[in-house]
Amino acid sequence: MKFITCALLVLGVLCISNCQDAQLPSYIKPCEYKTSKFESCVREQIVLSLPLFTKGIENLGVPSIDPVKLDDINIDGNGLKLRFTNAELYGVGKSQITDFKVNLDEEKFVLAFKGNMTLSAKYTIDGQILILPIKGQGDAKVKAQNLDVTISSKMTHFKDDKGEHFKLVSPSYNYNIGRTKFEFQNLFNGNKQLSDATHAFANGNWRQIMDDLAPPVVKQIVRTGVRSINKFFAAATIDQLIIGYST
Ligand SMILES: *[C@@H]1O[C@H](CO)[C@@H](O)[C@H](O)[C@H]1NC(C)=O
Repeated sequence: MKFITCALLVLGVLCISNCQDAQLPSYIKPCEYKTSKFESCVREQIVLSLPLFTKGIENLGVPSIDPVKLDDINIDGNGLKLRFTNAELYGVGKSQITDFKVNLDEEKFVLAFKGNMTLSAKYTIDGQILILPIKGQGDAKVKAQNLDVTISSKMTHFKDDKGEHFKLVSPSYNYNIGRTKFEFQNLFNGNKQLSDATHAFANGNWRQIMDDLAPPVVKQIVRTGVRSINKFFAAATIDQLIIGYST
């Protein structure tokens, strides 16, 4: 008897995780398809859920995108060696959605957001920025104002035993960046005069530095963002997200 109860319990637990639809967070509300308000409904959903979604959804395996944990960044060119480790980027969850389009018939998806983002990392720097020598290691912050990222992707479907799901495939992106401010702690072993002069110069010539630094950072933001969205799509069926949609 004990064994049977136990077996039923185990089956029951397995069933909760496997047999039912995934339990979506309560902030995700479905939108009705084939109505004039469909796109604005989805857009509103994205705006409302962005600050929460970007924290990740643990029970669905959706990773956090605010902060985004970044792989190490190595820049070596134009006479400058710069390395960031333990890098995290903050701010995606507080960004504004500046564009959103979805066309399910044409499998098109476009999402643009704009925000003030801060990269926080350990740095090592050695070489020169344009003409000015720079050297140091310690904690760094890179504050980018109005980083504007547009992601365009093909939006396909796939089917599993739970039903039909969306999937973003071959995303592409472009970006634009506003003013950037660098804060390198402990430049020149903490020599304040040299450090102040170098910061003034680096912040005045931020675009040259960001030409090298922004591409690997934005690439990782997009990659993690798309991975999160696809984790979510893999957990949620289309029926849970859209009312009245049939493939
Ligand atoms: C970023 O910060 C600037 C200056 O504080 C502000 O004017 C701007 O609206 C902010 N941008 C976003 C997208 O929040």
